[in-house]
Amino acid sequence: MHTNVWYVDENVDSDKCYPQIVEAAQLLKQNEVIAFPTETVYGLGGNALSEKAVAKIFEAKGRPADNPLIVHVASRPHVEKLVTTIPKQADQLMNAFWPGPLTIVLPGGESVASNVTAGLDTVAIRMPDHPVALALLTAANLPLAAPSANLSGKPSPTSAQHVIHDLDGRIAGVVDGGSTGVGLESTVVDCSGDIVTILRPGGVTKEQLEEVVGEVKIDPALSDDGHQPKSPGVKYKHYAPTAPVTLVDGSYSFIQQIVDKRRAEGLKVGVLATEESKELLSADVVIPCGSKEELITVANRLYDVLRKFDESNVDEIYSEVFTHEGVGAAVMNRLSKAANNRIIKE
Ligand code: TXA
Ligand code: MG
Repeated sequence: MHTNVWYVDENVDSDKCYPQIVEAAQLLKQNEVIAFPTETVYGLGGNALSEKAVAKIFEAKGRPADNPLIVHVASRPHVEKLVTTIPKQADQLMNAFWPGPLTIVLPGGESVASNVTAGLDTVAIRMPDHPVALALLTAANLPLAAPSANLSGKPSPTSAQHVIHDLDGRIAGVVDGGSTGVGLESTVVDCSGDIVTILRPGGVTKEQLEEVVGEVKIDPALSDDGHQPKSPGVKYKHYAPTAPVTLVDGSYSFIQQIVDKRRAEGLKVGVLATEESKELLSADVVIPCGSKEELITVANRLYDVLRKFDESNVDEIYSEVFTHEGVGAAVMNRLSKAANNRIIKE
């Protein structure tokens, strides 16, 4: 299959008509799948009302069928058509954070294609905060099911080049609107019960949610492997570069000792560092990933850095750890998955 690439300015005006977006929207209406930028990561969109379009998403990514998709909308009326009720807390969260990096799991989903929800009686919905995503949703006038536009298991794409690397020839096209903003996927919250529960940490933090709805719980499966996660995708291997990643919870000199030992054994070693540590640590490949002082910059860079290690052909990757406060919860969630929970403590 030929994969089209349409270049658009990341600040398109959603009231104007752009030929590239019209062409991409036309293909979506014909139940083809198209990748597009959002403020978090690139999504692979397909008509959420069409079983056939949604099947193409799963096939292109090699995604397990029991992992449900997020439905993206450009307006509130579209939400009302997809759910049975909008609980008060969900309404408050939509008002506070939409458009934005918050996905809300709501009761319903009978009106979307059955493979979107993987048989659950809830549906996950979000309104992305990206002019290109909103313009495409508006032009297609459809709810779009869209997982991250990477091959299943790989780091999510934060640029159109990442999408093309993984999916060229497997999808109908990519709308290239430059690099994404947050760099990590949306926060997923369940609003189908009494207390709002975080199923996946992301760009919107627990603290920010609590300011709007009071007490917020965290799905115990996020910290304890014994629990069955409510968000099925959370249990899969994720975000992993080819070389194994190990987290090191200790001083820089402890990290350096481990790296030196492995290099002495003949391995090519990579270090995921920060602006603060990049001069202090030495290895075959040291890639800085934002600043410890401003964790949002680590979030922004993380997936691109994990993909860069693939290009550098290292045998092993070591990374320092970060605080779990604020957006650190999402950074550490993704890093722990990339590391398959391997952690060495000093
Ligand atoms: O930022 C994002 O959320 C990106 C952009 C493209 O919007 N999308 C994304 O989609 O990360 P994906 O498919 O990679 O992750 C969707 C997550 C999975 O963990 C999935 O299990 C969960 O949302 N999910 C979807 N529907 C659900 C439901 N009804 N109940 C619980 N979890 C659900
Ligand atoms: Mg994903």
